[in-house]
Amino acid sequence: MERADGPSVPGIRGGRAADRTGPARDTGVDLNTHPTHPDPTEAPVTGWWTEAVIYQIYPRSFADANGDGIGDLPGITARLDHLVELGVDAVWLSPFYPSPQADAGYDVADYRGVDPLFGTLADADKLITEARSRGLRVIVDLVPNHTSSAHRWFTAALAAGPGSPERDRYVFRDGKGADGDQPPNDWQSVFGGPAWTRVTGADGRPGQWYLHLFDPGQPDLNWDNPEVRAEFLDVLRFWLDRGVDGFRVDVAHGLIKQADLADWQEPQEILSGREVDKPRPPMWDQDGVHEIYRDWRALLDSYPGERILVAEAWVEPAERLARYVRPDEMHQAFNFEYLLASWTAPAQYAVITRSLEATDGVGAPTTWVLSNHDVVRHASRLGLPVGTPRPHGIGIGDEQPDAALGLRRARAASLLMLALPGSAYLYQGEELGLPEHTTMPDEARQDPTWERSGHTLRGRDGCRVPIPWEADAPSYGFGPTDASWLPQPPVWAEFALDRQRGVPGSTYELYRTALRLRREHGLGRGTLAWLATGDEVLSFRNDGLTVLTNFGGVPVPAPAGEVVAASAPLTDDGRVPTDVTVWVRSA
Ligand code: NOJ
Ligand code: CA
Repeated sequence: MERADGPSVPGIRGGRAADRTGPARDTGVDLNTHPTHPDPTEAPVTGWWTEAVIYQIYPRSFADANGDGIGDLPGITARLDHLVELGVDAVWLSPFYPSPQADAGYDVADYRGVDPLFGTLADADKLITEARSRGLRVIVDLVPNHTSSAHRWFTAALAAGPGSPERDRYVFRDGKGADGDQPPNDWQSVFGGPAWTRVTGADGRPGQWYLHLFDPGQPDLNWDNPEVRAEFLDVLRFWLDRGVDGFRVDVAHGLIKQADLADWQEPQEILSGREVDKPRPPMWDQDGVHEIYRDWRALLDSYPGERILVAEAWVEPAERLARYVRPDEMHQAFNFEYLLASWTAPAQYAVITRSLEATDGVGAPTTWVLSNHDVVRHASRLGLPVGTPRPHGIGIGDEQPDAALGLRRARAASLLMLALPGSAYLYQGEELGLPEHTTMPDEARQDPTWERSGHTLRGRDGCRVPIPWEADAPSYGFGPTDASWLPQPPVWAEFALDRQRGVPGSTYELYRTALRLRREHGLGRGTLAWLATGDEVLSFRNDGLTVLTNFGGVPVPAPAGEVVAASAPLTDDGRVPTDVTVWVRSA
């Protein structure tokens, strides 16, 4: 395979367009040509997942078959052809299990069933079969850090009382203070407020406290208990036997807590957020989690086919995250450092390079992600001033993103991402350029974050709104009725799939083109070599394509060759304007 380094590389330095004005003169670009990601023929890992584009379905908000305003499994099955036409390789389904829905299904009451809201187990089987018959792989969500408080184990723990084996499956402790009326430590919940709730004893008097890093309806499990470990191995088997291709593992960095449950004076963030040499929060990224994933990996490897584990681990720096994807652990980990990186050339260069180096260091592929059901959609996030800290939702009265700028940058960011080697995750609706709902009435909000933070954090409802399929249909085609569990903003009509399908230049057609070319050129398993890493322009070569993103204030020359994809039109004289990515095919 051709190596994309050395003087023979055609790129922006030597091409016709470059000669015209000279990118180095125009932009101050440092035209270093150097490989970052090794020739993949030297990499030990292969498999569908190493280069897959995986589409996240948030079942509540994808498609509603029965018209009750909540998306469901039959709705997904009926829309699978959309995903085939889009060109993705796999879907990841957020939880659809029986649940009181205290955290939109991330509070699981039964790991082996389907909530009637979403359908039946037979509907799940049908969805898996129909998807796989179309060549789409299926990944389901596994939530091992906590159960729902409605899980039979938690009910049994409450009934059994202090010191019982039933309570030992969770993290129960006596309170501090004379009457035990103070929580056992100072930990805060990720959703706001204390991470402990006191229960009532059998005698009707206040009793012990239990730990919940999230909502009180999500008690944390005790992963030092062998019964807990055995149960989850069995849950994995249950879904593996039904034919799923893998699991996205929720809060994978949280299962093991520091044994002494020491106080942690700092504010709670789901991010481990530490430099290598600084103490990590006692609830995140403890070394003990890795043993669990080794057991799971051994189980998955005993099944035919390539079944995968994907870590949702908000772990920094990249070297710590890479530990989750060592050869005998998980296959992938979400790259949240990439998602959180600023929209500047140096920040993007740094995070891409660091990510590739960290995962190359353990022989794993890198992943890329810009949006999911927990963060402000990137079409809106990138419309906020560069450098704005990660917003925890946007609502009425908050600074509103510049919608046009956000969409322009989102398209450029997505086209940049889809050219990178590794696996990429898409979140439903981003292929339509959907913005966040940033003016949702607060009364409509359902994310527990809004209440638990004392109305200081808006939460995640704005990225979870049911998506638009047909501009002129009720609920924009989300379902057969007007019903929608969160209100859809009027501006979404113009983003509906039927307004974009077949329309040159639409965001939907841009994604389709990018996914087709990515596949044709094998970009996911390609070799990345930087061509330009300046303050304003990033450019790299991945096999036969040269990719350039202009973050600067003035148009820059396009790389030499045939422009095969552009996130927005080039200037009349063929230059790449501000906030635009191009893919150029060159010899
Ligand atoms: C991460 C999930 O993505 C999020 O939606 C959920 O609230 C927490 N984990 C708790 O399960
Ligand atoms: Ca429904």
